[in-house]
Amino acid sequence: MWRLKAVVISFTVLWTTCVGLDMKFPPGFKFGAATSAYQIEGAWNVSDKGINIWDTMLHKNPSLVSDGTIGDVACNSYHLWREDIHIAHELGLHFYRFSISWTRILPTGFPNKVSKDGINYYNKLVNGLISKGIEPIVTLQHFDLPQSIQNLGGWTNPLIADWFADYARVVFSNYADRVKSWITINEPLMVCDAGYNVGLLAPKVTEPWLGSFLCNKHVLMAHAKAWRIYDENYKGKYHGKVSIANNPIWLEAKSEEDEELAELARQFGVGRYSDPIYSKDGGWPPAIEKLMSDYSKKQGFPYSRLPTFTEEEKKIIQGTYDYYSLNHYTSRVVRPAREGEEPGPWYVSGSKELNAILEAHPRWRVSDFKYIVIYPEGIRRQINWITKRYNNVSILITENGLGTKSSDMHDTARINYIHDYLEQTLLAIKEDGANVIGYTVWSLMDNFEWMFGHTMKFGLYNVDFTDPLRKRTPRASAHFFKNIIKHHSLDV
Ligand code: NOJ
Repeated sequence: MWRLKAVVISFTVLWTTCVGLDMKFPPGFKFGAATSAYQIEGAWNVSDKGINIWDTMLHKNPSLVSDGTIGDVACNSYHLWREDIHIAHELGLHFYRFSISWTRILPTGFPNKVSKDGINYYNKLVNGLISKGIEPIVTLQHFDLPQSIQNLGGWTNPLIADWFADYARVVFSNYADRVKSWITINEPLMVCDAGYNVGLLAPKVTEPWLGSFLCNKHVLMAHAKAWRIYDENYKGKYHGKVSIANNPIWLEAKSEEDEELAELARQFGVGRYSDPIYSKDGGWPPAIEKLMSDYSKKQGFPYSRLPTFTEEEKKIIQGTYDYYSLNHYTSRVVRPAREGEEPGPWYVSGSKELNAILEAHPRWRVSDFKYIVIYPEGIRRQINWITKRYNNVSILITENGLGTKSSDMHDTARINYIHDYLEQTLLAIKEDGANVIGYTVWSLMDNFEWMFGHTMKFGLYNVDFTDPLRKRTPRASAHFFKNIIKHHSLDV
């Protein structure tokens, strides 16, 4: 069956390439590039900015990062924001996705004090972008949680939903007149499963039982409260849209018999963060609810490790979307673990609970960093899965891109990656009828790539981190992407 599928797909690709897939993007399809506050701003202690969990973790122990770098200066976008607008304009971007640093706006993490300088910084950025015809897409929370809130348990404390809502209220009241597209929280799967379970990212809590599941529920509640604040107070007037950015790895069954397991793995990874918002009935994916209840009992818990929703909570969360924000980079194949084989890898959530192995297919190309395995068809399949499960929701690809070790200006690997993933996106739109409304490259420029520091480069623009002015220079991929935007076509 796998072979048959492969033949059908290859035939479609061959047919569309030879006979001519119209490489034009639909009218209205938008292109952009993305960054996030901690990864580019620097200025970690300028003015009254408060401390976030990345400041704390890396000041204590910079050697956690591959090259020992930290985000204190990064691309220095706090001072060089004009440069960022300039390069976004040079590319011809329709939109620029960036994030707001919670502690730059609320230094204590709470609304007892609003920083004038913080508000002013993002005003300059938003106004500057708009003056160049670039739409701002703003993420409220991209990994850099206030330390004050982490001290109270961070995403494991249910009160965080209200604290996040307070922060969102301040942000909306300052920028909603000009910002029409919002993302509440970036990659909750990473926040919860990597931050509160396996301890891969800050705050590096290694709590294998409840941490990530409590976080999962509270992230959804926080998102929903923020969405409702926008919906009630601003949507009527400004007609903006709010979503939450999920980051599914496409999970493909290794063989036909593994399809059921693969589907469970998809629901474990992305369904847990999407069904409560997008599904018709709300709440957790029923199959995962059952799995977690059985699994928890086996582990001696008198209750499920997956917290329950009250009917009221379900209602608060259900339907809180205006589009689906999709970050997508890579794929894995799924098969059951054999007798005595350790499920894993540990960093892909659900492997333990499902007793599954999630691995790269031998025919897929592994990039410079083994977590990105290149399988462009994966994005088409992921789009189709979301489209089918969530009633043809409109999808904005809010991140896709390739990290490389080399800072070469002739970045052919990045060009090929973007080309191939965009081609599959076009197929999803034109052949499968998916409603994809735009595409975002991660990233506008090289930046601070979390645990990989500056060793992993994603930029359309190279950034010289030895230069105090952090000079930004376009790579070949920048010219390539600019042409795609200019011609509104992949045929460039
Ligand atoms: C996802 C995250 O949102 C972003 O912060 C990160 O840099 C990229 N993926 C690349 O790993």
